Amino acid sequence: MKFLVINGPNLNLLGQREPGIYGEENYEALCQMVKDYAAAHGSTAECFQSNYEGAIIDAIHGARGVYDAIVMNPGAFTHYSIAILDALKAVDVPCIEVHISNVHQREEFRHKSVTAPACVGQVTGLGLYGYLAAMGYFLEKQSEL
Ligand code: DQA
Repeated sequence: MKFLVINGPNLNLLGQREPGIYGEENYEALCQMVKDYAAAHGSTAECFQSNYEGAIIDAIHGARGVYDAIVMNPGAFTHYSIAILDALKAVDVPCIEVHISNVHQREEFRHKSVTAPACVGQVTGLGLYGYLAAMGYFLEKQSEL
């Protein structure tokens, strides 16, 4: 499978940003981890990160006909970006939403995801493993996608 792994705002600062919540691994380590996992399963993973909503929307549009599945952590855009919700609905590339932290154990405003309704499912609170869990699901279910 060809995976596109999208990370939204502030996730470029993984490892430095609130390590008690997001862990000590940096963004490069995350990308290497998803690439290695994909390769171990006869697949590929491209990583894209942006702090800009429009750039993320463009990346989702660009996935059409290029990638089999999207694994996305929209960061704070999760909680209010109707534009990212609409972008996911506009393309026929299945997406799983990932959150490193357990958003349900945190502030009330993080409990709501406006983007998850356009996703196959959501993984939250499993740390960086959540990205692999999402990829594993797609690999397992690829004949049904
Ligand atoms: C996050 C959770 C969001 O609420 C937050 O804004 C992030 C990261 C997570 O991975 O746990 O930037 O998506």
